Amino acid sequence: MTSLAKRVEQIKPSFTLEMVSRAADLKSKGIDLINFSAGQPDFNTPNNIIEAAKKAMDIGKTKYTAGSGTLDLRNAICLKIKRENKIDISPSNILVSNGEKQSLSLACQALFQLGDQVLIFKPYWVSFPEFVCLADAKPVFIDTNSNNNFEPDQVEIESKISDSVKGIIINSPSNPTGSIWSDETIIKILKLAKTHNWVVISDECYERLVFDGSFTSAEKLNQDFNIGATIVTCMSMSKTYSMTGWRIGYSFGQKIIIDAMNKIQGQSTSCANSISQAASVEALIGDQSTVVMMLKKFKERRDLMVSLLNKITGVKCNIPGGAFYAFPNFENYIGKSFNGLKIKNSFVLSELFLTEANVVTVPGDGFGAPGHIRFSYPVSKKKIKEGIGRINNFLDKLD
Ligand SMILES: Cc1ncc(COP(=O)(O)O)c(C=O)c1O
Repeated sequence: MTSLAKRVEQIKPSFTLEMVSRAADLKSKGIDLINFSAGQPDFNTPNNIIEAAKKAMDIGKTKYTAGSGTLDLRNAICLKIKRENKIDISPSNILVSNGEKQSLSLACQALFQLGDQVLIFKPYWVSFPEFVCLADAKPVFIDTNSNNNFEPDQVEIESKISDSVKGIIINSPSNPTGSIWSDETIIKILKLAKTHNWVVISDECYERLVFDGSFTSAEKLNQDFNIGATIVTCMSMSKTYSMTGWRIGYSFGQKIIIDAMNKIQGQSTSCANSISQAASVEALIGDQSTVVMMLKKFKERRDLMVSLLNKITGVKCNIPGGAFYAFPNFENYIGKSFNGLKIKNSFVLSELFLTEANVVTVPGDGFGAPGHIRFSYPVSKKKIKEGIGRINNFLDKLD
């Protein structure tokens, strides 16, 4: 029998990707599904970006690029970071990768090893613990409270401090909660990181999908408040520009860390896709009006989704300040039964939403948040109304 490496057993498959393929499978069988599981915008990539990719192919930008990314793209990233995040960086502090997922994974590979602990906040994006495990380190979880915008309490963080902690992963705006942490909370974390010599990995994938208030990059706070923490900032083209399939993400930080990540990338995937890199230059420095249009649509859909969820008896949903996820609490339905089947957790409830109401959602237990369910809302308002209506009808049938 073929024996596989131990690390395969150490990690869990991405169940959000599983939900996506499960939904596609049911749809191909002709089932009329409403899909609230997608982690991507429903719009096509803006036309100017598509045209830039076509042009890149026509003029032969179809070859390997520099491992860290083309200079054109790294220069465009510098311009964008200055324009949007008000931070000065140099191209030599940037690494372009095949999606931000690779940036985050490389950061963990370059920074952590056996015996190290890495702090992760619950609810967490499903891949964070797995990146840490793949680096042979141990994820250590910190609880947050939904009544406090899912922001951590300093005492909770301090209770996890030990000499083994080497890093901390933050993600605001967050997947799965959509919450945007306050500057005060991020500043506290950066100060703790500085004191204890932890590297902060700041996943800012949804930095431009912000509906209420403003978002400040952790590195900007680090500089403005003179904290001096070591931060690897990871950002993505995927969500802002509806480019999930193009697979471009990037990271920036201290050169020694970026070079280490580049060394590993060079021996695994060489460089990111040359055509997608050329298209990303146009995305970052070209016309930004489609970003504004998408943001407006997402905000309208968020408002509708959250108001309908909060009208369901016994359900409570915070207003998420960013990203495109609502993360309501269905605790009041855990413990009820459907046709004699006990709903013992959010996995069972989400499965019943799928089989009985034909609505695809993602169970909060998988994000470390029992009782919650994630609803993605990059879908039309008509579908949001129809989907929540179906869920309401189903919940009425529970004993
Ligand atoms: C929180 C978070 N970080 C990172 C990513 C990775 O994005 P990508 O690899 O498409 O750039 C995602 C994608 O869903 C995400 O939700």
